[in-house]
Amino acid sequence: LRAHVALNPAAVVAPVNRRTFGSFVEHMGRCVYTGIYEPGHPSADEDGFRTDVLALARELGVSMVRYPGGNFVSGYRWEDGVGPREQRPRRRDLAWRSIETNEVGIDEFAKWAEKAGVEIMYAVNLGTRGVQEALDVHEYINHPEGTALSERRRANGAEKPYGVKIWCLGNELDGPWQTGHKTAEEYGLLAASTARALRSAEPDLELVACGSSSSSMPTFGAWESTVLEHAYDVVDYVSCHAYYEEHDGDLGSFLASAVDMDHFVNSIVATADAVGARLKSTKKINLSFDEWNVWYLSRFQNAPLPSEWGVAPRVIEDQYNVADAVVVGNLLISLLRHSDRVTAACQAQLVNVIAPIMTEPGGPAWRQTIFHPFARTAALAKGDVLETRIDSPTYETARHGEAALIDAVATHDEATGEVTVFVVNRSQSEPVELAVDLTAFGTGLTVAESVTLTDDDVRASNTRDEPDRVTLRPTAGGVATDGTTVTLSLPPVSWTAL
Ligand code: AHR
Repeated sequence: LRAHVALNPAAVVAPVNRRTFGSFVEHMGRCVYTGIYEPGHPSADEDGFRTDVLALARELGVSMVRYPGGNFVSGYRWEDGVGPREQRPRRRDLAWRSIETNEVGIDEFAKWAEKAGVEIMYAVNLGTRGVQEALDVHEYINHPEGTALSERRRANGAEKPYGVKIWCLGNELDGPWQTGHKTAEEYGLLAASTARALRSAEPDLELVACGSSSSSMPTFGAWESTVLEHAYDVVDYVSCHAYYEEHDGDLGSFLASAVDMDHFVNSIVATADAVGARLKSTKKINLSFDEWNVWYLSRFQNAPLPSEWGVAPRVIEDQYNVADAVVVGNLLISLLRHSDRVTAACQAQLVNVIAPIMTEPGGPAWRQTIFHPFARTAALAKGDVLETRIDSPTYETARHGEAALIDAVATHDEATGEVTVFVVNRSQSEPVELAVDLTAFGTGLTVAESVTLTDDDVRASNTRDEPDRVTLRPTAGGVATDGTTVTLSLPPVSWTAL
């Protein structure tokens, strides 16, 4: 089998947005407690943060982290998590049926974010709360000084405001499972009035309205349309959430999950632009794909939440395999391809909960298979995203119809002259010979590096005992070039960065 990719430095989609490489820390399961935070752990620093996890978060190349939820945020009282620790209340978290100790709140998370070198994306509670509480938490986080809540922050040790720029107006309020679930009409009005109030406090905030929780929601598209009819002028983004898994052993469909992501993005861009046209607006609403990943959601849905109200229970700690990593690499290809409109994204989540980083309490931290395509894409995608013309054989899938065997995206860094191609082979049995035509870049090109994630066993995983079973290795067979075209062989079920 053969495939062909042609690239041209003049055919630019958009600059690579660093915010494409966002992640997500929710107060859920062991993401915060025994994830990023574990005082008493041998690697814990003076603030109780695991430095092994911090080092892995930096290596992952995460640029921005959404906090504190997720479904959790829709019942959260932010003020529970500030001030002296011994006075902080323990509360029920209805979303995940667990106990929130509030040992970590915004002040601690801001410290962690600074150490990790990431931007904070903050989500306010629009489930059980409204405009006033959103204004309050904004005053605490961003107001410089001289008001009740900014002085409270200063008294709690943070003299300077945190300067959080990007704010989510609630979480998944289209979902009946969400505490405080709303109709599109109700949410659209609330999102618009919250956005207006926040803008009165700080005009240049970037505000994200909730879009659909998945493309299979019955209100998909209609929800965004109604919400944006109300909030178009006062928000900058609409969110998208999508989780993928292999259903009933249908690996072929699963490997083509990015087809659904492409469809999701194209549909919501079209919907947002249609609202803009109706409103005679020249403004464009961008997409914040602020929850995406592989998640074996059906396993979670078939197993009830724990009956005991515990602290930091083990919830959705999916162990990822080679196929999952190939899909994650492909989802990043899709996000990059849409860099003109998807200008923020968060892989959900960062640690333990459907995460690239796993930890054991008191024990080690390790990289799941999905860590590798994320880290390498974040490191290598620089400069501009190029239009990537792909000529590929196809295959039939039950869920997505006819899908290309090869999917790819390329970036070009004009400053260094480097071109990177990210490419997956979705075939389960055949290698594909790929030719990348770089004639438009001139002659004399050399190949700096080509690494591939693949394995004879597509179900192979990394575990505590074997943390490096699946990793990136030099592309087998090497890469040939005549100075203008590069050729290589892509093994079945593989992700490659060239
Ligand atoms: O990331 C796990 C959960 O998935 C989040 O809390 C929620 O927003 C989504 O349904």
